[in-house]
Order: sequence, then structure tokens, then C-alpha cells
Amino acid sequence: MTSILDDLKEIKSLDTEDMLGIEENFYNQLMEASRIAEVADIAKIKGRKFSGIAILGMGGSGFTGDIIKSLVMDEVDIPVEVVKSYQLPGFVNKTWLVLPVSYSGNTEETISATSQALGRGCELLCVTSGGKIEEIVRKYGKCLIKVPSGFQPRGALGYLFFSTYLVLANLKIIKVNKDDIEEALDLIKKKCALYKRDVQASKNYAKIIAAEIGDRLPVIYGISGILSSVAYRWKCEFNENSKFPSFWDEFSELNHNGIVGWGKLKEITSKFVLIVFKDDAASDKIKVRIETTLRLIKDNFYKIIEIPVEGKSKLAKALSTMYLGDIASVYLALLNGVNPTPVDKIVVLKAELAKLDK
Ligand code: PA5
Repeated sequence: MTSILDDLKEIKSLDTEDMLGIEENFYNQLMEASRIAEVADIAKIKGRKFSGIAILGMGGSGFTGDIIKSLVMDEVDIPVEVVKSYQLPGFVNKTWLVLPVSYSGNTEETISATSQALGRGCELLCVTSGGKIEEIVRKYGKCLIKVPSGFQPRGALGYLFFSTYLVLANLKIIKVNKDDIEEALDLIKKKCALYKRDVQASKNYAKIIAAEIGDRLPVIYGISGILSSVAYRWKCEFNENSKFPSFWDEFSELNHNGIVGWGKLKEITSKFVLIVFKDDAASDKIKVRIETTLRLIKDNFYKIIEIPVEGKSKLAKALSTMYLGDIASVYLALLNGVNPTPVDKIVVLKAELAKLDK
């Protein structure tokens, strides 16, 4: 049987703003992000030492902080704080570097926390395509990583995350291994070729995952660290691209609460699909936790999908696993007759809030 996901005409008529094309271009976006990092205006803070970094941002932009923190937290000797709030934590002071990340540059939580950072005399490194955050850069002479405009924030993650990550490495705030970058880029290049629209549904793993989910609710279980951030990203992409309810949790914390919740409401949860990342390099303890958990809860789900995590370095693992979820969520949208791009409810909400500022 031919899949609607192989009907390129149908895809084109549904995906009017070409979210799938943006996903297919992820490798090129990462390459472009490397160039953006090279030309970023960071002279003002080069060579400076900071006692911590705070990465501000919400939603699609906020994920930049999640992934950077999970990639570097075992190696850096200063705190890396992710702030998704109007409020900058009290311990962030003028010895910290604050990175407001807002694709539009107009997200009010990010602007509020940025204003507090300015008030406390923190150094700023802003990541945006424009808006009020860019105005702040110009007004106060702050550093800027400028990314191209015209995307949905979640579709610009390659720009937002990778350019920020590389700039932090240039500043010697984090250490980035060249081999890891090469490995990650090579893997993503291969995956882009394997997941693109003209690879048939029977051979295309991203389409296969979308078909396995079908019209059921995806629950994603990650593992504390990079695979926790990635589980969260999968959930967000199923929400925003596919317009599906979706939930996530992480090992080992879920073994202390979530595992028990798969007890009642089986008539509902039997329509859920559990997606679990399988990392061969996970510790024996984590492997036993996953195995035992799946044995205990499998009958509560329609099915369990185990996703093999590929790559050696954390960066390759994080990007390749994330990318699979990103593009699968677009295929899931298309499979269900949904245009992946619009996020009308977010637009309505932002418009309501803007009325308060008038
Ligand atoms: O995907 C989206 O549109 C949202 O999650 C936005 O990223 C979020 O509202 C924040 O906006 P911005 O990324 O422009 O700061």
C-alpha cells in the first residue's frame, strides 16, 4: 500500500510553508550556523572570565539553553543556568554572562529577564534575528549573534543552538572537541539524506516512526542528561508541528513516581505510544531501569517504540536523536492532514498579552 507520506504532491499542498523543506535542510543550517559563529560580534567579551552563564529563552528558542546545558554540564567549572521565566534568578550578578536567546527578539519573558540582567550590570551576548533584543544590543552596545529571519523559531534551532554553542567555544567558556563536531555533522548529513521526502516510507525511519504513532498520543522517555533534553524537544515538536498532545519524562526520576502512574485509565492509555531512547553506552543501572520499567508498564500502552541512539560523542547523539524527532513530527502532521507550520494558539496568546502593554 502506498503511504500518503510518499505522495509528494499531497505533501506540497498541505505543507504550504515548507516545514519539511526546512527540516530536510538541517545539515545546511548547521553549516551556515558555523559561519554565523565565525562572524559574530564578540570582541567586547573575548578573553573575559565569567563566574556563570545564564541562557534565557522560551519555547523553540529556549531549547538552545536546554541542549547547551546538557552538553556541557559535566565539563564546565562554572554554573550554566537555563532561565525560562520573567524573572532572572537572584544569584545572577554582574560577574555572569547572560545570553538572551529569542528568535523573534520580542518574547516578553526573555525581554523582562534581559532588562534585569542589564540592571544588575551583567554582560550580554544576545542571540536573535531582530526585534527588541536587537534594539537592546544597539542601544547598550552589547554582543550579538544574528541569525536569519523568516523561520519558525523551532525551525531555526540549527542557527540558534549551533552558532551559540560554537561562539561559547570561541570564547573558551566551554570546550568543544573538533572531532565531535565533525562526527555530528557527518551523521546529520547522512540522516538528512535518509529521512528526506523522496525516500520511500518503507525505508525512511522518520516516516516509519510517524506511521507507528499514527493517531495515538506519544509519550517520550529520555535519560537524564542530553537525552532528557532531546525527549523534551520531541514532545514540543509533536505539540507544535503535529498539533498532538504529548508528554515526556526522564530516567531515573520517573522510576520514583511516573512509573506508578501507569496503573489506572488503561482504556485511555492503551491509545498511547511510549517512545524510549536506547543508548548502548548507558550505564548498566540505567539499562536495568529501562528494561524493568518497560516490562512493568508495557501493557498500558498501544505499543513501545525503542529508538536506537546513534553516534559516539554527546553532540552527535543529541543532534541525531533530536533531528529524527523533529522530522518525524513533521511527517506525523502530514500523515494526519495537518499543516506543520502554523501555531495559531501561540499567536492568539501573544496578541492578548500585547494588549496589556498598550
Ligand atoms: O515555537 C514557537 O513559536 C514558540 O515556542 C516560540 O519559540 C516562543 O514563543 C518564544 O518566541 P521566540 O522564539 O521568538 O523568542
